Amino acid sequence: MSPEAAGLEVSGLSIDIGGRRVVDDLSFSVATGERLGLIGESGSGKSLSILSLVGLAPADAVVAGSVRLDGRELVGLSERELARVRGRQIGMVFQDPLAALNPLHTIGRQIGEPLRLHEGLSRRDALERAVDAAAEVGLPDPAQITRLYPHQLSGGQRQRVGIAIALACRPALILADEPTTALDVTTQAAILDLFQRLVDERGASLVFVTHDLAVLARITSDVVVLSHGRAVERGTVDGILRGAEHPVTQGLVAAARATTWRAS
Ligand SMILES: Nc1ncnc2c1ncn2[C@@H]1O[C@H](COP(=O)(O)OP(=O)(O)O)[C@@H](O)[C@H]1O
Ligand SMILES: [Mg+2]
Repeated sequence: MSPEAAGLEVSGLSIDIGGRRVVDDLSFSVATGERLGLIGESGSGKSLSILSLVGLAPADAVVAGSVRLDGRELVGLSERELARVRGRQIGMVFQDPLAALNPLHTIGRQIGEPLRLHEGLSRRDALERAVDAAAEVGLPDPAQITRLYPHQLSGGQRQRVGIAIALACRPALILADEPTTALDVTTQAAILDLFQRLVDERGASLVFVTHDLAVLARITSDVVVLSHGRAVERGTVDGILRGAEHPVTQGLVAAARATTWRAS
């Protein structure tokens, strides 16, 4: 992809923390409307990679390389500039919705916040849109639930809120970091279906992070395998299932086959 190309282009991304290289020379690109899966074992550097795309790596992390969104370089932007990108151009869904939500603010206020921030809506208009958004992500009794606080919702409901927040401003790119890992299997399936449908409807680009190839296979075809902070294999889910080359990828395939077998 050329520097002017539409979409996300990450090249030579490296992250050091405390003198340790945790992500090493990672490159990938996602064209507008396309999807990419980033898969790897726990500790392989998935979350740090995703967080650093939007300037959310820990303060002591040293991030080098290039992250371009529609040709615009994001690495090195000020916090003020990045805050305008997050939520508006790039929506994010995290693994732990409870940690991602503010315990002191109502659901309605939190879904409405990006709309107030980026679209300048009044408190009242933002709340109205939040009720619609709550309905769209399948929350029961939207008018009532937007008045509640995060601790009053189930895990699955909280992740529906997380998705509503991420999608509120209709971002062109969505980053999802293990959005269903913290949920029980039944809820996981429902949330994946919802997420899949909404990303489809919006025609948004997507980077979907998981340690679970069975989950990934439902969302994306193209995949990059991370191990110890490096991309060790790239291809399609089908290709990887037919013959993974790297031992780490083979391990992920074996793990996915084992869980699928146990579940059936
Ligand atoms: N805030 C941090 N400070 C120091 N090391 C960290 C921090 N966050 C993550 N790491 C380390 O960086 C590596 C990658 O972590 P992470 O990106 O969270 O992995 P993953 O999401 O693939 O499980 C791990 O070795 C982890 O211990
Ligand atoms: Mg992680």
